[in-house]
Amino acid sequence: MKASVLCFRAAVLMVVCGIIWGIAMGISHDHSTFPAHAHLNLLGWVSLFLFGIYYHLHPAIDDNRLASLQVWIWIAATVVLSIGVALVHLGRPSAEPAAAIASLVILADMLLFGWLVFRREKKQLAHQPSAAPAD
Ligand code: HEM
Ligand code: HEM
Repeated sequence: MKASVLCFRAAVLMVVCGIIWGIAMGISHDHSTFPAHAHLNLLGWVSLFLFGIYYHLHPAIDDNRLASLQVWIWIAATVVLSIGVALVHLGRPSAEPAAAIASLVILADMLLFGWLVFRREKKQLAHQPSAAPAD
């Protein structure tokens, strides 16, 4: 599966969960887990969708297995981070290490995405025809 297709599908699933979570907080008048809801939406919907747009705009990277790996890692770490942060806010401090590790994985995965972006832009520059010499 193309990395962008994976991004768009996962982003939609995550935002459906995030919206249900938000509505549940509203109905119950218990907003204690809102940071987890916020980050599920921001990492799982906004960021994933943005990755998807970037990959879709760069078909050579979109087919790259490293790009799919980057997306899978992001999905897994976002799920762990969201559940971990929710548990911490529900009074379970034992979930803190899981949330902390997931956040470091997210950082490393963003650096991997950054590397794919910089590598791509460098290649593109190298393949641009040089300006015709002025005569
Ligand atoms: C129908 C959908 C949604 C509902 C019902 C909902 C509901 C809520 C509720 C009840 C809170 C807690 C507010 C507070 O106590 O301060 C909250 C916080 C938040 N939500 Fe949502 N949400 C929804 C969708 C989204 C989406 C799609 C995003 C991001 C793209 C998002 C991002 C946030 C953020 C960043 C916060 C934290 C805001 C703050 O710092 O006060 N939410 N949401
Ligand atoms: C691994 C990545 C991230 C970590 C560890 C992280 C951590 C945090 C922490 C500790 C807070 C304070 C929460 C509180 O006071 O209860 C926070 C708030 C916030 N972060 Fe992040 N963040 C991350 C990524 C992002 C990203 C990618 C966005 C936006 C696209 C974002 C947007 C926000 C917003 C809007 C708030 C205020 C709402 C809230 O308190 O939940 N964060 N973040």
